[in-house]
This record gives sequence, structure tokens and C-alpha cells, in this order.
Amino acid sequence: MDYKKYRFETRQIHAGLDPAIENGARGVGIYPTAAYRFKSCDYAAKLFELSEGGNIYTRLQNPTTSAYEERIAALYGAVGALAVASGMSAILLTVTALAKQGENIVASPYLYGGTYNQFRISLRNLGIEVRIAASEDPAAFAALCDEKTRAIYVESMGNPTCAVLDLEALAAVARQKDVPFVVDNTFGAAGYLCNPFDWGANIVVDSATKWINGHGTAMGGVIVDGGNYNWRNGKFPQIDGPSEGYHGLNFAEAFGAAAFVVKCRVDGLRDFGCCPSPFDSYLMMIGLETLSLRVRQEVETTWKLAEYCRNHPKVARVSFVGFEDHPSYAHAKKYYRYGSSAVFTIELKGTLESTVQFVEAQKLAAHMTMIGDSITVITHPASTTHKQLSEADLKAAGVTPTLLRISAGLEHPEDLIADFEEAFQAI
Ligand SMILES: Cc1ncc(COP(=O)(O)O)c(C=O)c1O
Repeated sequence: MDYKKYRFETRQIHAGLDPAIENGARGVGIYPTAAYRFKSCDYAAKLFELSEGGNIYTRLQNPTTSAYEERIAALYGAVGALAVASGMSAILLTVTALAKQGENIVASPYLYGGTYNQFRISLRNLGIEVRIAASEDPAAFAALCDEKTRAIYVESMGNPTCAVLDLEALAAVARQKDVPFVVDNTFGAAGYLCNPFDWGANIVVDSATKWINGHGTAMGGVIVDGGNYNWRNGKFPQIDGPSEGYHGLNFAEAFGAAAFVVKCRVDGLRDFGCCPSPFDSYLMMIGLETLSLRVRQEVETTWKLAEYCRNHPKVARVSFVGFEDHPSYAHAKKYYRYGSSAVFTIELKGTLESTVQFVEAQKLAAHMTMIGDSITVITHPASTTHKQLSEADLKAAGVTPTLLRISAGLEHPEDLIADFEEAFQAI
């Protein structure tokens, strides 16, 4: 079906459902199968040499997961999507498909702690250098690019301070340096709040564990290919060159605009094995059906909670991109629908101890390292997501001992405010 004529709300329900395949069933079937019978040896050979598409083994492809991937690609208006086991594996597959030993990528200083560690330690150990820009200024990214650079990497909203970088200007730097612009769009809710492809991104990665699933019930990640990068510029022989793993097949020649996402599947998933379970893909499909409704409500609640916290005497600072005093206010307004996501941070007056007391006094908000859940989540980055960072890196990431990240869920906002008030009174 051509989904382009439909709006996001329609695509999130209909894309990926094929009544012909599903025997008229209303929902997608769950295929708990590891392998698939081949109708002939000739057919099997064609599948293995990639001259024909079809199911071989669930590590590479599964009908439930394919439906979910089709829905994601339709939501983003992309040429293809690949579902993987987690957001971290989406990032790993993407970067290792782009850069080899001795090459580098240039990344934003505002990154999720797990990504920062993958970049700083694991990728370095694989021989891939990640150069962190000194600031969000596009010139700081440009200054770090050289002939070995293979991508510019940012988050559409940085975790946890919600920094929104100038996506359009960074895409221009990537174009000028002739490298792909990769955006982690976890906060952008599968394109509903922010679609980086509208601003020049070439590849999007997303932790589906968050708003795509929406209920905290499964782990997942997606790689989305905009199909808008010219791989035939001599920098990517692993995409535009004879593939060692497929008897000299050239992905750019054989798969055109979808070359990158195909490579991530047939090399990345085959070799690293981080495939999603069909049941989790099903949960993602269900989550996606209500994505826009959930996110709209969560953003509305975020505004109310943030406003309440801003006026509270025990709060030193509220950092919410929807407020004019946030450094990313203008960028959020430009790049995010409603000018915000459903996450904000507060810094309490007081100490590490009173902050811990406040967290432990919450009755509704769950103390977890999570965002985009239907349960409101409160996280203490200094003791959790950002615990591995040095003092200098914590400072650079804006993480202090009394900083709390709040991800608004779907409870009634007035109940959340009453619960926060009780917790404030307890400290
Ligand atoms: C922005 C961002 N990217 C990636 C990840 C990693 O995703 P996952 O936990 O699904 O591996 C997270 C996790 O919180 C995140 O916030």
C-alpha cells in the first residue's frame, strides 16, 4: 500500500498490515519460528545470494518483524527500516556499518550515557575513533572532520538535558563533508514529534524500548534508512564495492537507495545476531497504534508538571525545552511538534541525600531508568544512567547530584502533581 497520502495517525495503525498475508486477520500474526522451509534448492540458493527476497532464518528476517519494519519505514517516510534487539544494538550496527578500524565519526557532546560509553570504550577497542565535538556549534563538528570521517552523529534531543541541536545546520555540515548525517531520534517518537529526515538526516536510529513500545514491556531498536545518501563517493567500499560475505555482491549496485539498510540486515544482523524476538515485534506494532495519542497526552502533562515544579520553592531549576529560558527553546520549537518532548529535568535545592529522599517518597512515579513509558518515570542520572562518567564529563553533560529526569506518563496530571507535592513535603 502507498502510505504517503495518509497522515501519521493513520499510518501508525494501517502500515504493515497486509490482509492478504494475514488471512484477513485484523492484527499481525506472531511467527515464533527460527527457520523457514525452502520450496526448492534453487529458491534457497537465490535467497542466500540475495537475488531474491524471502525468509531464511529469524536472525535475519521474520514476518512479524517485517510488518513492524514496514510500519516504521512508513511513519518516517523512509526507504526501509531494520528492527533489532535494542537501541544500543541499532547504534552499534549503524556505526560499524559506516566506519572501519582506523576511521572515525564525529559526535555530539550531548549523548545518552550508554551511547557515550559504547563510543568511548567499545568502539575505540574496535579501532573506530569517536570524536566528540567541543560544543553544539556546527563549526565544532566541521573542525573535527577529516578524510577518515564516516559520519556525523547526534541525538535529536540529547539525553538527559534535552539539548536540541541545529539539525538543519548539522546536516549541511555533513553534506559539505560528504558523510552521512545520523540522528538518534529516540525522543522524536518515531517521527511524530520530530522527523530528522525532514531536516536532512540520512540515517535514523531509535530506541524502540521507549515511545515506540510505549508501555515498558519490551526492548528494541530500529535503524531507518532515508535512502538519500550517495554511497558511491569512494568512501564506503563496504557498501559500494565487492562484498566479501556475498561473493562480491555490490550493495549500492544491487539495492540502490536501500543499500545501507540491506547491508545492516544481511551483514550486521547475520554477524552480530542482535535480532528482535517476533513477540517483541508484535508488542512494538501494538505500541505504535496509539503512539501519537500517548505522546500528545504525555507532552500536555509535561507542560503542567514542569510549570508546577517551576513555581515550587524546593526546586532550584527546571530545564524544559518548552520554556523560553532553555538554551534549546528555539531549536525545539523549530524541530519538535509542540516545541517539546515528554521529558524534562529538575534540580532540587538541597543535597544528594534530600534528592534521594524525594525520589523514594514518590508513590506514582516509578524510580527507573526509562523514558517514554505509560508510567511516569523519575530518574536520578548521577547515580544511574550517567554513573560511569568522570566528574568533568558529568559537568559537560550537565549532570549534577540533585538533578532528576522526569518522563511524563499517562496518569492524570493532577494526581501526579499531588504526589509530587507530598514528596516535596517529605524532604
Ligand atoms: C537517546 C537514547 N538512545 C539509545 C538508547 C539505548 O536504547 P536501549 O535501551 O533500547 O538499548 C537510549 C536508552 O535510554 C536512549 O535514551
